[in-house]
Amino acid sequence: MNRLALSRVIGHRGAARLAPENTAAAFRRAAADGAGWVELDVQLSRDGVPVVFHDETLERTTDGRGRLVDTELSELRRLDAGRWFAPAFAGERLLTLEQTIALLLQLGLSVNIEIKADETRAAATAEVALELAGRLWPADRPPPLVSSFSRRALARAAQVVPDWPRGLVSDGWPADWRRATRRLGCASLHVFHPELTPRRVRAAKETGLAVLSYTVNEPALASRLWLWGVDAVFSDDPGLLLVADANPEAGPH
Ligand code: G3P
Ligand code: MG
Repeated sequence: MNRLALSRVIGHRGAARLAPENTAAAFRRAAADGAGWVELDVQLSRDGVPVVFHDETLERTTDGRGRLVDTELSELRRLDAGRWFAPAFAGERLLTLEQTIALLLQLGLSVNIEIKADETRAAATAEVALELAGRLWPADRPPPLVSSFSRRALARAAQVVPDWPRGLVSDGWPADWRRATRRLGCASLHVFHPELTPRRVRAAKETGLAVLSYTVNEPALASRLWLWGVDAVFSDDPGLLLVADANPEAGPH
């Protein structure tokens, strides 16, 4: 635990290795496997509705075609978002953020909302998604952690839900991490795991930032990152890492 009240394992896109990512099945699986937190990706449909979806285009994870931002919600609702993963998940639907929040509250899950948008849409996506989330999320539950690769999105998040923690996501170690996180009022830095070193983790934590790392699916890697002081790892198989965390002597080191 740290000041964000994070758990050490966050289900990535729910539990993306075990169920179709960012769907109800994935969030239910994360909860069933003991995850306290899940991460999800949010974008806007063509008609401006926040939906939970990772890719820019529909082909990989649905039976639709084209760009998500060019597709109306009514059309997105008709897509099959599960069959690509396995026949048993056929009929799984793409969810709106509103539907997803209702499900997460029912499941008792905390959430990291990652705002996904190109720079031309980042601020608008953050504004619309977080105004909605801000209305729906109960004040007596741990607030969502809002993250993004986009600094514009985080700057807008600071205006819309100023009291919710913010995290800067980066595939590389940002040369200006100290200045950027201070300017954006970030509580955390979320970094692709090969970019982390003990020295980098220590330096970030000394400034008061929590350090989160993605995507970690091997217990031995998670153990190493936790040893370095990483606060939480995003995993496609959160249950696997939770078991390893509970039985550290059983896993390889
Ligand atoms: O937020 C951590 C991680 O999800 C960032 O990368 O591409 O999986 O959304 P991506
Ligand atoms: Mg993500």
